[in-house]
Amino acid sequence: MPEERIKIALTKGRVEQQVVPLLEAAGIDCQQLRNKQRRLIFDSDTQPYQFILAKGPDVTTFLERGAADIGIVGSDILTEHQSSQYELMDLGVGVCQFVLASTADFDPQAPRRKIIGTKYPRITQRYFDQLGRDVEIIKIEGSVELAPLTGLADAIVDITETGTTLRENHLKIYDYLQPVSTRLVVNRLALKQHQRLIYQFVDQLAEVVSKSSKELAK
Ligand code: PRP
Repeated sequence: MPEERIKIALTKGRVEQQVVPLLEAAGIDCQQLRNKQRRLIFDSDTQPYQFILAKGPDVTTFLERGAADIGIVGSDILTEHQSSQYELMDLGVGVCQFVLASTADFDPQAPRRKIIGTKYPRITQRYFDQLGRDVEIIKIEGSVELAPLTGLADAIVDITETGTTLRENHLKIYDYLQPVSTRLVVNRLALKQHQRLIYQFVDQLAEVVSKSSKELAK
């Protein structure tokens, strides 16, 4: 087993599903991640990497506290949690959009103070501040689309990737806020301590990312 190893916190779920094929294409052993069942932490037998599977906001906490050296996480989470970690790469996957959405009868120009449901209160606040509109924001943990459907909120600010969830719940997009993609971030101290291993990992991945972006551009 390699003596020095780096700890990589990977966001569970959608990011994980899109990043594992990238890691594999870069020659990184993901066998254990593929067969993980309910396990959350994985040491490669042959490579100097330990993978930690965590929720996006916790990936930033692991990094901030030095419990992980590298984080792989969406820019939505980095922006919302005002993460000051050093961003080394845009992986070009997990591409989605922040949108303002609601039911067909929503009137974004109506003068009354609106209630907005979201998992991202900071990003939402900033958006409405820039528009000079005062709103009430309700923090919702998931299935945000329920808010305008149940009368909990007038509209939502959320991310959309394929648009399926909005479509299937008969919600309409009223505005586009900002794009989102998966980023590779690093703890600055770890970068000093494990410079060689971190750059080896990043370089392996960078080659695959640049190849896949060239293929997409064809
Ligand atoms: C996100 C987002 C939307 C959905 C959009 O939720 O909050 O609900 O994905 O994706 P789509 O445009 O491809 O349909 P996520 O699946 O992360 O889970 P959550 O609802 O529990 O937050």
